[in-house]
Amino acid sequence: MTGETAKSHAARAALNYVKDGMVLGLGSGSTADIFTELLGLRVADGLTVQGIPTSQNTADVATEAGVQLLPIEQADRIDLTVDGADEIGPKFALIKGGGGCLLREKIIANASDLMIVIADESKIVETLGAFALPVEVDRFGFTITAKKVFDVLCNTGIARPGVVLRVDKRSGEPFITDGGHYILDCACGTITHPVKTAVQLSAVPGVVEHGLFIDLARVAIIGGEHGAEVLEH
Ligand code: 5RP
Repeated sequence: MTGETAKSHAARAALNYVKDGMVLGLGSGSTADIFTELLGLRVADGLTVQGIPTSQNTADVATEAGVQLLPIEQADRIDLTVDGADEIGPKFALIKGGGGCLLREKIIANASDLMIVIADESKIVETLGAFALPVEVDRFGFTITAKKVFDVLCNTGIARPGVVLRVDKRSGEPFITDGGHYILDCACGTITHPVKTAVQLSAVPGVVEHGLFIDLARVAIIGGEHGAEVLEH
């Protein structure tokens, strides 16, 4: 089995939730891209949907796949969002933002009637935190914001956190999100109190958004070797 097979199983199973006429939030990352490409095949067969992309990359994938895009400002509802995750913890609490799209992903997931998270089995964890938590911050004063983020992590039970400015591997320059911000990748090890950490991070001036997605996903579709398991919360 390859990770791609498992991702494809999850993405394919998510298509069962798509109905004609829906407005869909289109997630970012390799698993979500597979979903968007499969969606394009359904569109070619006559399905009518409109997609709201969570990143410029997803917009490009959707356009290539033939999925009609809807500017978010013109949407009066979003029926369903399908997106990947970096970690899926208890009660479908997620870490997202490995691809740097967490702000738009969270705005769109939060505005959707239903968010489905799709992933391969490797993303399931008992406790969040092995994956470094992405925190999107305004560029102005980011070194000060980084210190405040460090303090929040310490104050919410994370022992010896590491807070690092994300660098674009190709250019060697700081990574810039679609919204024009920086990302701080926060090595936590174990996030023992995700709700507390989420609330306190949101309160730091300069933090635009963080990658803890709490109480957003209601369905998780986990791909494996022979198919996908649908879990509902
Ligand atoms: C992007 C994300 C992605 O959903 C997350 O990184 C998972 O990506 P992949 O499906 O490639 O493992 O949050 O910001």
